[in-house]
Amino acid sequence: MSEKPIFYKSTFVKSVSKQSDRPEPLLPEIAFLGRSNVGKSSLLNALLNRKKLALTSSTPGKTRLINYFLINDQYYFVDLPGYGYAKLPKNLKQQWQRLIESYLKNSDQLKLACLLMDSRHELQKTDKLMADWLNYYHIPYLVVLTKADKLSKNMLQKQLQYFKNQFPDHSVVPFSIKNREMIRQLAEVIQRTLE
Ligand code: GTP
Ligand code: MG
Repeated sequence: MSEKPIFYKSTFVKSVSKQSDRPEPLLPEIAFLGRSNVGKSSLLNALLNRKKLALTSSTPGKTRLINYFLINDQYYFVDLPGYGYAKLPKNLKQQWQRLIESYLKNSDQLKLACLLMDSRHELQKTDKLMADWLNYYHIPYLVVLTKADKLSKNMLQKQLQYFKNQFPDHSVVPFSIKNREMIRQLAEVIQRTLE
C-alpha cells in the first residue's frame, strides 16, 4: 500500500528580494539554508516529489532570490540563495548575505530552519557562523547532512557522529535525494514541527 505523501500539494508563489514583498497571507514558514550548491533546491524538490519546482544547477549560485512555495495550502517552504561560495563576485555575495540576514531578522513566521551541510566535509566556518546567527535569533533549526549517497555507510555514520558532536543540542539527520527513506524521515520531522 502506498502512503499518502506528507506534502501532497505544492505551488510556487513568488520570488522576492526584500521582506516587504513577501506573499500574503502570512503563514508559518520552513526555511532551507546552506552554502551554495549544498543541495537546498534539490532537497525541496525531493521533499515535494516535484522534479523541477525549485530550480537546481551543478554550478553554485543558482538560487538568487527568496523563493516561496505554498505547501498543502497551509504553510510556506522558503528556498534561499546559498552563501559561502568563494568564487562568486564579492558584491553578489554581500547582496545575498544581506538578503539572508534580513530574511532571518524579520521572519516571525519562521518555525524551523533546515541548515544544510555537505555530509562529506568538515564543519565549515560559514556554517558555524550561520548556526551562531540562528542561535542568536532563537530560531529553531536542524542540521541536514546532504548528498549522503556519496558516502559509504561507515563514512556516513562517522560524519553523523562528528556533526552530532558539533551540534549536541540540535537534531542532525542524513539526507539524499536518492534515498526515499531519508526523504520520508525529514518530511516527518518537518511535519511534526508544524503541528
Ligand atoms: P544554490 O541555489 O546555488 O545555492 O545551490 P543549492 O543549494 O540549491 O543546490 P542545488 O539543489 O542546485 O544542487 C547542487 C548540485 O548538487 C546539483 O548538481 C544537484 O544535482 C546536486 N545534488 C543535490 N542533492 C544531491 C544528493 O542528495 N545527491 C547527489 N548525488 N547530488 C545532489
Ligand atoms: Mg538553490
